[in-house]
Amino acid sequence: MRLHVNGQAHDAPTAPGTCLLTLLRQLGWFGVKKGCGTGDCGACTVLLDGVAVHSCLVPAFRAADRHVTTVEGLPGPVADPVQRGFAQAQGFQCGFCTPGMVMTVHALDQAQRADLPQAMKGNLCRCTGYRAIADAVAAGIEVDNPAPATADVVTGAARYTLDIGVPGLLHLRLLRSPHAHARIRAIHRAAALAVPGVVAVLTHEDAPGRRDSTARHEDHRADPDDTLLLDGTARFIGQRVAAVVAETVAAAEAGCAALHIEWEVLPAVFDADAAMQPGAPQLHAQHGRILDAAHNVVHRVVGRSGCVEAGFAAADAVVEVSYDLQRVQHAALEAHGCVTWLDADGRLVVRSSTQVPFLVRRALADLLDLDPSRIRVVAARVGGGFGGKQEMLVEDICALATLRTGRPVQVELTREEVFTATTTRHPMRVAVRAGARADGTLTALHLHVVSNTGAYGNHGPAVLEHACNEVLAMYRCPNKAADGVAAYTNTLPAGAFRGYGLSQTLFAMEQAIDALARRLGLCPFEVRRRNMVRPGDALVGARPGLDDVEFGSYGLDQCLDLVQAALASGRG
Ligand code: FES
Ligand code: FES
Repeated sequence: MRLHVNGQAHDAPTAPGTCLLTLLRQLGWFGVKKGCGTGDCGACTVLLDGVAVHSCLVPAFRAADRHVTTVEGLPGPVADPVQRGFAQAQGFQCGFCTPGMVMTVHALDQAQRADLPQAMKGNLCRCTGYRAIADAVAAGIEVDNPAPATADVVTGAARYTLDIGVPGLLHLRLLRSPHAHARIRAIHRAAALAVPGVVAVLTHEDAPGRRDSTARHEDHRADPDDTLLLDGTARFIGQRVAAVVAETVAAAEAGCAALHIEWEVLPAVFDADAAMQPGAPQLHAQHGRILDAAHNVVHRVVGRSGCVEAGFAAADAVVEVSYDLQRVQHAALEAHGCVTWLDADGRLVVRSSTQVPFLVRRALADLLDLDPSRIRVVAARVGGGFGGKQEMLVEDICALATLRTGRPVQVELTREEVFTATTTRHPMRVAVRAGARADGTLTALHLHVVSNTGAYGNHGPAVLEHACNEVLAMYRCPNKAADGVAAYTNTLPAGAFRGYGLSQTLFAMEQAIDALARRLGLCPFEVRRRNMVRPGDALVGARPGLDDVEFGSYGLDQCLDLVQAALASGRG
């Protein structure tokens, strides 16, 4: 079929089932982004004969003999007022959503622009909070010191991980466990290998036997060695258990569907407290840096400063609050993905959407038994991370596929996989006990945390440490204590997430301070002012040893004033 894109004619044969988004990217129009593939995010918005459409929802054949405009077809920020508005107001951060936003705004009339939340409800941004986008649409707002990538972002020239044409590319899809806890008895791959276009099938029998963690830290000892590249035991629904590499995504998916696995289903446990009880299913054998595998305990924090028992005895009021804080997904608009190939010198090149390229290189070298100089990890512009890409979730399997096939391989997780098989904020059960004198002066704080690290301990110990320490450091109080534990369950592994454990415990702590103020009949702002740390105070958390660090200039007092004023004004 023939279609016209940004004034250029393309004669493009399309396979059945191809959507316009896929076709445009195959033709090299990488300004069109894929955030979901299901019509929810708007990153793929283009103009089809002048009408804004989500190109992932449009069958490619419907564009035959029609005119498509992508962000690359606009005249640029000097001549185009919409692109100029986004550039001047910096209506983006990672910029992955920006091409779609720009195209949607282009199609709006003045009346629609007056009600942006309605007019742009089909375009999601994970980074900006929408204020800057509204400023961009309003135009006339100019931010000093624009980001260096501004022109590339608003014109669609910025290149993200998969915005690259690689000749001879293979595609990798992952088969995932349907069971929360199960052992693989056998994998039958003949039917998958017989699917036309399938090049390779990788299972735990093909993977290195070295245990590591998906978490990436400068010091790898921050995490337990509890994870294999592909494991003969599945410990959560969604764990990858095999990979199929094929000439097309469709063939790789058909190969996954044709794989037959014989499972031995095992008892599972989903609650962190239950997982630590005698008789609970044990998830892991005792591997490196797991504190107590027999009781599913990966890490524990016990800290004391002063004597909380004496502090509670001296209090005029004691309150206790308890919360279950739920799992949260980062939902970066660019899904996890990478491309791997061997360069002319036989060096493994990994182009990945990662926050930690150097740590990924080191981990791949260890895992695949390669000299680090034989690996090059490239991070292009990253379409959002928020901690979710401080893990190695796709690079290892993709690299293994390239080493096995000798060919370039690409993997791109679906939005569903991002939600069901990549890391999240740690669900936590947090209890806070707080005591104070009648004037609001704190006498004791006790924090109890049970962190559900999921099936693997990636970031589990470090997140627990921060959750238990800094939250106690925010208040002056002579008697503090924390008891925290991170436990394995047969659920999705949690990981690094903005706040790194503190969002959960700070929420509970602040609720306790409010409850204490109510009990004493005091203003909650005044209770905070009376007790909050001040510049020059030592940083005293749950553990001795942090008190050699002092608070400097910090702005906490100004924040409190601003919040109080905003709430009083009714704008809060
Ligand atoms: S709406 Fe098309 S990729 Fe999200
Ligand atoms: S700037 Fe919108 S998703 Fe990152």
